[in-house]
Amino acid sequence: MLLRDKVAVVTGAASAAGIGRATARRFAREGARVALLDLMECDPAAAARELGPEHVGHVCDVRDRAACGKALERVAGELGGIDILVGNAGVVFGTPLEEIDAAEYDLVMDVNLRGNFNMAQAAAPHMKSAQVKARGGGSIVMISSIAGQVGGGLFGRSHYAAAKSGIFGLAKALARELAGDGIRVNAVAPGVIDNDFTKGRMTPEDKVRIAKTVPLGRLGTPEDIADTCLYLASGLSAYVTGSVLSVNGGLHIY
Ligand SMILES: NC(=O)c1ccc[n+]([C@@H]2O[C@H](COP(=O)([O-])OP(=O)(O)OC[C@H]3O[C@@H](n4cnc5c(N)ncnc54)[C@H](O)[C@@H]3O)[C@@H](O)[C@H]2O)c1
Repeated sequence: MLLRDKVAVVTGAASAAGIGRATARRFAREGARVALLDLMECDPAAAARELGPEHVGHVCDVRDRAACGKALERVAGELGGIDILVGNAGVVFGTPLEEIDAAEYDLVMDVNLRGNFNMAQAAAPHMKSAQVKARGGGSIVMISSIAGQVGGGLFGRSHYAAAKSGIFGLAKALARELAGDGIRVNAVAPGVIDNDFTKGRMTPEDKVRIAKTVPLGRLGTPEDIADTCLYLASGLSAYVTGSVLSVNGGLHIY
């Protein structure tokens, strides 16, 4: 049980086939009490109930700084502090440059980048508590994308690539700033994951064709990313901070 006595918050955690949901499930199996945050329409409370009575689910739009603060106050009170934050909420659009309007630009930047900033800002005071330090210190994991490494990709265009690339700078800066408080901050860059995010964007033939371009010969699964989050959230990565972990089957090796 790698996360016994730990409290973990996962954003964008209610989507049925999502990376966040798989991560919440994985953390719960390792003994963590998990708070699943998501938009109202995803019903995070129902997703938490499915995990068990010791977990909670709350509505929280990560674009809203005040809402992030309130949600984490509530979770810390309910579950006893906050040790782990996985900033997973994200949206993607494949719109070409000249067709991206201001609203779509703001949405992509605000959910993917500002959302990670808002949540880290709200989580830091809780992770600096004596209670969390005594349990081994805090860990923040931000979900970026291969699109942030290579300039977009199969689904995301310029705004998505910029937001996901921004996560690398944010994670590295916070890793420096928060290290003295025993808080580690890392980013994960998934490759092509076969789930809802990519649903409707790939035919079965596309999947076979894309899998052939991946050195490990298959698309990724939400569980591949959940396992990486578990490593970064747990004491197994006690000396790892400010890093970007590529989880892409070798699709991008650099
Ligand atoms: N699936 C892939 O191929 C892939 C590849 C690289 C990176 N990613 C990243 O992984 C993360 C998870 O994606 P996924 O594949 O599980 O997709 P998903 O659509 O299943 O999950 C995204 C979740 O974010 C939530 N969300 C959206 N806007 C939000 C907001 N304003 N506040 C709170 N929650 C919000 C959604 O409701 C949903 O539950 C995203 O950040 C995505 O960019 C996915």
